[in-house]
Amino acid sequence: MGKFILAPSILAADFTCLGEQVGVCEESGAKWLHIDVMDGIFVPNISFGTVVYEKLRKVSKLFFDVHLMITQPERYIDRFIDAGADGVTFHIEATNKPEECIDIIKKRGKKAGISICPGTPVCEIEKYLDKVDMVLVMSVNPGYGGQSYIDDVNEKITYLRKKMGENFHIQVDGGIYKENIKNVVDCGADVIVAGTAVFGGDIAENIRNLEEAVCGQ
Ligand code: DX5
Ligand code: ZN
Repeated sequence: MGKFILAPSILAADFTCLGEQVGVCEESGAKWLHIDVMDGIFVPNISFGTVVYEKLRKVSKLFFDVHLMITQPERYIDRFIDAGADGVTFHIEATNKPEECIDIIKKRGKKAGISICPGTPVCEIEKYLDKVDMVLVMSVNPGYGGQSYIDDVNEKITYLRKKMGENFHIQVDGGIYKENIKNVVDCGADVIVAGTAVFGGDIAENIRNLEEAVCGQ
């Protein structure tokens, strides 16, 4: 896996055997684990909080990439870091204190990410780009796994890669499968989130298929 980082999203995992499934991701070469936190206010769905991954922290070396789909994320960032997050991404649409969010994450020595929903233009985050380590471009409206990729976001990915250069993470999240992953990477994404495409069926085989779709056999 050279051209991109795969971040399996545990939202699509089988929670009766979460530890085992995360172990298979790690053995299959994944380096990141995407952890989707939803509060039922910023998005219409509720997922889970810190208790779901704090125990995993003790058994996994993966980079814990926490995606906060919660309103006023500044209230909770420290707690998510205490539970083992290596990186925290918040939504620009969910806070009027984006600088405070970035400061809290950076002060704790973690990677800071800022995210935009499909309907939010890049200009909304432009002034924070040199303060963050990653932009998460949502390719579905956040809230649920298993949705279809919105092609209009490709323009944002291309623009951000051109603007930010090679030493910057551009993560894309939602509706990515072996059929479209190569196109997303070709647009300039280097961190790919996949839930259904990883956890639906044989995890090891699914990860292999995603890698092969980008890098060839
Ligand atoms: C959606 C979440 C995604 C989701 C992706 O709100 O942020 O991370 O789990 O799931 P798939 O890959 O199934 O679209
Ligand atoms: Zn996510």
